[in-house]
Formats: sequence, structure tokens, C-alpha cells
Amino acid sequence: MFQILKAIELAENIYEMVVKAERVAASCQPGQFVIVKTDEKAERIPLTICDYDREAGTVTIVFQTVGASTKKMAALKAGDAFRDFTGPLGQPSEFTAEDPAELKKKKYLFVAGGVGTAPVYPQVKWLHERGIDADVIVGSKTKDLLILEEEMRSVAGNLYITTDDGSYVRKGMVTDVIKDLVENEKKQYDVCVAIGPMIMMKFVCLLTKQLQLPTIVSLNPIMVDGTGMCGACRVIVGGEVKFACVDGPEFDGHAVDFDLAMKRQQLYKTQEGQAMLKLAEGDTHHGGCGNCGGDR
Ligand code: NAD
Ligand code: FES
Repeated sequence: MFQILKAIELAENIYEMVVKAERVAASCQPGQFVIVKTDEKAERIPLTICDYDREAGTVTIVFQTVGASTKKMAALKAGDAFRDFTGPLGQPSEFTAEDPAELKKKKYLFVAGGVGTAPVYPQVKWLHERGIDADVIVGSKTKDLLILEEEMRSVAGNLYITTDDGSYVRKGMVTDVIKDLVENEKKQYDVCVAIGPMIMMKFVCLLTKQLQLPTIVSLNPIMVDGTGMCGACRVIVGGEVKFACVDGPEFDGHAVDFDLAMKRQQLYKTQEGQAMLKLAEGDTHHGGCGNCGGDR
């Protein structure tokens, strides 16, 4: 069992939990994720890691309630425990393996949308701890839904906040801020990292392609087993089949087929849609492999 040491509501329907998970905390890297289960029969929920403390042996997760399973999770309090807390899963962010001297020469722009702010934080923090200060744009629907502002400010070079309704700092989408920084303020970046809803990542990539700014995105398609067995998280990147849980979750955003990924996310919600995908995609398992548990 994995004990919850702290559980708070950051904003409406957005929760933060600090969980004692020593083995995950000892080896996780920015960009990776965990799959949690509240009890034996519960759904497996993939969540990106928001922070970790190797000495304390804790991992921080942030999630939004979207269905019955996440609502059940949100009801857990400090002192309660998760049945499973599996990870770290997926590949670490590419920069964690880069030569530090080369990395220091690069200027990073992070674009965080809504709950996607949580997985951006450990990346910016990791760079900050190595003397690399990145610029960060955080977009939120309204001021009330903005999360981790102070945490992000403490590790970002420059923090640019924008709200869709103009209720805090400025009005507009994250793409408006990117344009402003690059075209009006003439800022130069070597890499953009965009994490948020699929539609945001699609439009950020359309813009950064025009700006010739290489862009990494973190995909969060539906996941079941998280080990590359079930095929649920299949995405097409550069014309090739990839599985976000083992090949990603981070990919070259300019090569991702976002329209297909979004369509697939919708189709996967129904049995009929899953059957259609099975027919179209052939030998990927779709929960029927008998090993991953996706068919139970
Ligand atoms: P949201 O809908 O509030 O959007 C956040 C910001 O994204 C907006 O404020 C806006 O600036 C920008 N945005 C949205 N649509 C855009 C568009 N068409 N063009 C340009 N910019 C746009 O975000 P939310 O409600 O917090 O998002 C929840 C979604 O994020 C869920 O679907 C969740 O699965 C996903 N998510 C993804 C990751 C990931 O790793 N990719 C992590 C956490 C959550
Ligand atoms: Fe990636 Fe099953 S979740 S293959």
C-alpha cells in the first residue's frame, strides 16, 4: 500500500496528493508517469508526475476529476492509501540525457495548459536546479483554475500567465503569448515543450512549425496496461505507429498526427469504437491479449 501524506484541492476539481512511494521517488525523472489504483478492482489511472523528493521517498501527483474513478480518488484523504502506485513509466524527457554543457546553450520555452501545468513543473525545476532558466507560459481558462503559480514562479526564468477570459494578467490563449514573445518581443528559443489538452498541443505545434521552432509534446491518450501490450495508447508519429506508454509520452510535436489521436480518443470510449479500431489497426491488442488486463 502507498500512503497518502497530503491531499489538497488546488482548484475546483483539481487535486494534489503527496504519496509515499520510495522506489518510484528514487528513480523517476521529469517526463515520466505512474499508474495508480485505489483498490484491487479499481480502474488503472495514468498520471504524470508533478514532483518528487528522493530523500523523503515521496511523489506528488496532480489530477482532475473526470469520471467515477478520479472522483473516488479525490475522496481519499491524508492517511488513506493507494493499492497500486506503479512507475516510473515511459521515457524521461530527452533533455535529462543531454550533455549539460550543450543543454546550457539552449533556450527553452515551456507552454503549459491547464492541468498540463503539473507535468511541466518538474521539467522546469530540473533545468533550474542545473542553472538553466527557461521561459514558461501558463494558460488557464480563468484565474480560479490556475494551479502551481508560486511553484512555477520559483523555478522559471520568466513566467507568462494568460487566461482565456482575461480574469488574470492577460486575456488570450497560450498561442497568443508565443506569437507575442517571438514576433513582437523578438525572443529566440531553441526548443518549445508544450503540455496540455490535445487541442492546445495541436495549435501550438501548427504555430511553432511556422516559426520553425522545434517542439516536444507530451501525449496522454487513453492508457490501459502502460507496458506496450494492450495497444490503447497507439499514436501515429512521423507516419509510424508508436505507443505513448513505452515510446513516449514525449514526441516530436511536428510529427504527431493530432487529428487521428483526438478521433481515436473519442472512438476508444465505446465498445463499438474499440471494435472499429481493432478492425482498422490490425494486430494491436486493444485489451484482448489476455495479459494486460484491459479486457477485464
Ligand atoms: P483547458 O481546456 O483549460 O486549456 C488550457 C489552456 O490551453 C487554455 O487556457 C488555452 O490557453 C490553451 N488552449 C486550449 N485550447 C486551445 C486552442 N484551441 N488553441 C490554443 N490554445 C488553446 O485545459 P484543461 O481543462 O486543464 O485540460 C484538461 C485536459 O488536459 C484533459 O483532457 C487532460 O487529459 C489533459 N492533460 C494533458 C496532460 C498531458 O500530459 N498532455 C497532462 C494533464 C492533463
Ligand atoms: Fe500503452 Fe497499453 S497503455 S500499450
